Amino acid sequence: MEVVILAAGNGTRMHSALPKVLHRLGGRPMLLHVLETAACLAPDSIHVVVGVGAEQAVAVVEEACPHLGINWVTQKEQLGTGHAVQQALPCLQQRTSDNKVLILFGDVPLITSATLKQVVDQCTPEQISLLTARASLPQGFGRIIRNSDGDVSAIIEERDANSEQKAINEINSGIMAISALRLQAWLDALGTNNDQGEYYLTDIVAMAHADGVRVRAKMVGEEEVMGVNNKSQLASLERHYQMRTANKLLEQGVTLLDPSRLDVRGEVDCGRDVEIDVNVVLEGRVSFGDGVSVGANCVIKDSKIGPGTKILAGTQIEGAYIGQNISIGPMARIRSGTVLSDRCKIGNFVETKNAVIGEGSKANHLAYIGDAVLGDGCNIGAGVVFCNYDGANKHQTKLGDNVFVGSNSVLIAPVTLEDNAFVAAGSSVSSDVPEGSLAVARVKQRIVPDWKRPKKK
Ligand code: UD1
Ligand code: CA
Repeated sequence: MEVVILAAGNGTRMHSALPKVLHRLGGRPMLLHVLETAACLAPDSIHVVVGVGAEQAVAVVEEACPHLGINWVTQKEQLGTGHAVQQALPCLQQRTSDNKVLILFGDVPLITSATLKQVVDQCTPEQISLLTARASLPQGFGRIIRNSDGDVSAIIEERDANSEQKAINEINSGIMAISALRLQAWLDALGTNNDQGEYYLTDIVAMAHADGVRVRAKMVGEEEVMGVNNKSQLASLERHYQMRTANKLLEQGVTLLDPSRLDVRGEVDCGRDVEIDVNVVLEGRVSFGDGVSVGANCVIKDSKIGPGTKILAGTQIEGAYIGQNISIGPMARIRSGTVLSDRCKIGNFVETKNAVIGEGSKANHLAYIGDAVLGDGCNIGAGVVFCNYDGANKHQTKLGDNVFVGSNSVLIAPVTLEDNAFVAAGSSVSSDVPEGSLAVARVKQRIVPDWKRPKKK
C-alpha cells in the first residue's frame, strides 16, 4: 500500500501568503496531521504532491519529520485533483493490481488512522473504497450519486450539480483507496468537461462503475472528514480538534473544569489527579506529574512539571524544569532555562530566566532572577533584581544555601553570596559576600529635625 497526499492547491479561499496545508491546527501544520496519521498505517511509501509554496511545505515537513522519508512530487500547474494524482503515479513502487493506493487530502486533517485502515481494507482489485459522510451542511462538497440498487455510480461536484443532486447530503471526503493498476488507466482517460475545466479525480468513480468495478462507500461522522478551504472552516476544525484532545485527557482521568476552554497545541502527558482550570494554553511538549493543578489563564510551553506542584492563575512557563510540591504564581513568568527544585515558592510578578533554584527557596513577590544559581532555603525579598546585563554582556549571580536578600536590593553580576549571607534591604551588592556575613550597601539614613517643607510659589 502506498499513500498519495494531495497538497498542491493554492488555497485561494484562505487569502493568505502561507500555503494552505501549512496553516496550523492544534499548533501544527495541517499537512503534518495527515502525514502522521498516514504513517500509522505503515505504508510502503508516502508521496506528497506539492505545487504552490512547495519549497516552504517541503522545508517545514522535512524539519518536523525527516524520518518519514517522503517522496515529494511537484505539480507545476494546478490542473485538478485527478491531474495531481497523475503526477505521483510514475513514482509508485509497483503498479500492479495487488498494490493499493490510498489517496488523502492535505486539507482534510482530522481523519483517523482507524478509519483509514478500514478504507484500505475494503479496497480490492475489483473494488474501489471510498470514504463518505452525511453532512449537515453539504455545500461545497462533491455529492455521492447512487443508482437504484444503492451502488455508488458517480460523484458530482457542487458547481456541476443540478438542484436534485445538490439536495443529496452524502458527500465525498476525497479519501479513497484504489488498486494501482486500474488507477493508471482511469486517470489517463480523464477529461476536463466540467465547470472549472479541471481534471477531477472524482470522475474515475463513474468510469469504474461503467467498467463494472464496484465502488464501496464507507460512511463516517462528518467531523472526521471536514475539509479546510477557508479560515472559517479552519476555526471550526480547530474547535473539533481541541474537543477531541480534551476528551482524550478526560478519558485518562484529567479534571478539566471546562473542556471547551483548554487549548493544546502540541503534546501533553498527564499523571493521575491533574486538574486544569479554564483558559489554559499548553504548547509544545508539556508533562504534568501526579496531582499537578493549573489555575485559570496559564500558558505553559515545552516544560516538565513535577508531582504536587500548583501553578496559580495567570502564570506563563516556557522551557522550564519544575520539581515537586512547588507553588508558582499567580502571575509569575518562568522563562527558559529555569530549574526549580522541590518545594520552591515563586510568587506573584516574579520573573525567572536561566535560573537554577535550590530546594525550598522562595521569591514571593515582584522579583527578577536572571542568569543565577541559588542554593537551598534562600529567601529573595520583594523587588529584588538580579542585574545580569551590563549593557553589553550577561553575567551570573551565585547564591549559596540559606542566603537572605532583603527587599528592593539589586545584585550586580558577576557576584557571589556565600552560604548564610544576608543582604540588608535596599542594598546594591556589587562585590562578593562571604559566608555568614551581612552586606549593607546603601546610604546611611540621615535625620534632619524640624524639617520645613518647601512652600508652593
Ligand atoms: C474536493 C473534491 C470534492 C470533495 C472535497 C472534500 C475533487 C474534484 N473534488 O473538492 O468532491 O467533496 O474535496 O474536501 O476532487 N489539489 C492538488 N492539485 C490540484 C488541485 C487540488 O494537489 O490541482 C489538492 C489541494 O491542495 C487539496 C485537495 O487536492 O488538498 C483538494 O483540492 P480542493 O481544491 O480543496 O478541492 P475541493 O473543492 O475541496
Ligand atoms: Ca478542499
